[in-house]
Amino acid sequence: MDQQIEGVRVYIHINKNDFSYREHIKQEEDDITICECKYNANDPDSACGERCLNVLTSIECTPHYCPCSVHCKNQRFQKHEYAKTKLFRTEGRGWGLLANEDIKAGRFIIEYCGEVISWNEARERSLAYASQGINDAYIISLNARECIDATKSGSQARFINHSCEPNCETRKWSVLGEVRIGIFAMRDISIGMELTYDYNFQWYGGAKVRCLCGATSCCGFLGAKSRGFQEDTDVWEDIDERCSLEDKPSSSMRPESMPKKRSKNNHNGPSRPLNGEQVDAKFVAQFLASKEAQEEILKYEEQREEASSHLHSLYKDEVEPSIKKKAIYGVDGVPTSVAEKWIRASCMKLKAEFNLHSSIIRNIACTPQRAPDEAKPSEGEPKP
Ligand SMILES: C[S@@+](CC[C@H](N)C(=O)[O-])C[C@H]1O[C@@H](n2cnc3c(N)ncnc32)[C@H](O)[C@@H]1O
Ligand SMILES: [Zn+2]
Ligand SMILES: [Zn+2]
Ligand SMILES: [Zn+2]
Repeated sequence: MDQQIEGVRVYIHINKNDFSYREHIKQEEDDITICECKYNANDPDSACGERCLNVLTSIECTPHYCPCSVHCKNQRFQKHEYAKTKLFRTEGRGWGLLANEDIKAGRFIIEYCGEVISWNEARERSLAYASQGINDAYIISLNARECIDATKSGSQARFINHSCEPNCETRKWSVLGEVRIGIFAMRDISIGMELTYDYNFQWYGGAKVRCLCGATSCCGFLGAKSRGFQEDTDVWEDIDERCSLEDKPSSSMRPESMPKKRSKNNHNGPSRPLNGEQVDAKFVAQFLASKEAQEEILKYEEQREEASSHLHSLYKDEVEPSIKKKAIYGVDGVPTSVAEKWIRASCMKLKAEFNLHSSIIRNIACTPQRAPDEAKPSEGEPKP
């Protein structure tokens, strides 16, 4: 059935996963795990409560096989035992979901349903969604091979927003042979409170979406803790002398709902003072009286430039294509061999910078310097 809520992009409401892309696993009798619970009318927890072996291992009991029969309480996904929730309009984060009753810590709230698709399909869809202007991301990782896409069809869990200090979490359960994702309360939640979980957002490129969760410990951007985001920040602060922000990688599984492009002089948060304060080796060398000292500095400057340009090409030729190729949630997109090359090249660049800086310091301290009017800057070089 189509969900027709005013202002909500049309989607098909489903309360079980859609397996159009592959068949639902058929659970073999041998694979059914049977617990040892015994129903006792005086002990409500006896019928597959907290002590049930299946519950302890996040497996739902299979109907007709559970010793507690109709009393079994461990079939919450199968019976859609959801908490009462309600859609509401947030400030700046689109729609959200709130608790419509008091919810106790640990309670199963709702299943995250959608289409079960492969990671490849997820990557293609996410690029297509971005080009269609769908800025909200509804694809989440199910396991190493598959994702759940709730963009076009899904349960109300698709409306739960991210928070850096969430009150819910996702948990994976095995239900009749398939893995399913549930949203569970991490603490007691009062009626009217917004439900949130930490997306553990993996940022692989594209616009950086500002996080509006409002938590005191907010990381600032969706995916700010992910490796891709942090590496991107480092990489571009090191080499954006040659590349405008418009050159930045644009492949993305991510929404671009609130593009906030960072510029060198106008970004939030700390950055490393590298480019603006980089030593001009040629400029320094001309003040040294010793030819050997000048040559040494220029040699190290050349090595630094080579190392820096090697790092840059490695990013463009190998790292960025790997990121684009595997730009999907939760997976390390860069092969180990490329990562190793990247680390080696970064070390070479740091070493070259160290050599250059120590050579400059040593030569300034230990060799005679020319008077300012003796220095003859070559054409195009800045004059002292
Ligand atoms: C799964 S949807 C959540 C529902 C969405 N708000 C809607 O209206 O359909 C995820 C998208 O919601 C937005 N969003 C979720 N949490 C956010 C946050 N803390 N700050 C900013 N945007 C957020 C982002 O656009 C994100 O891609
Ligand atoms: Zn049991
Ligand atoms: Zn049971
Ligand atoms: Zn936040």
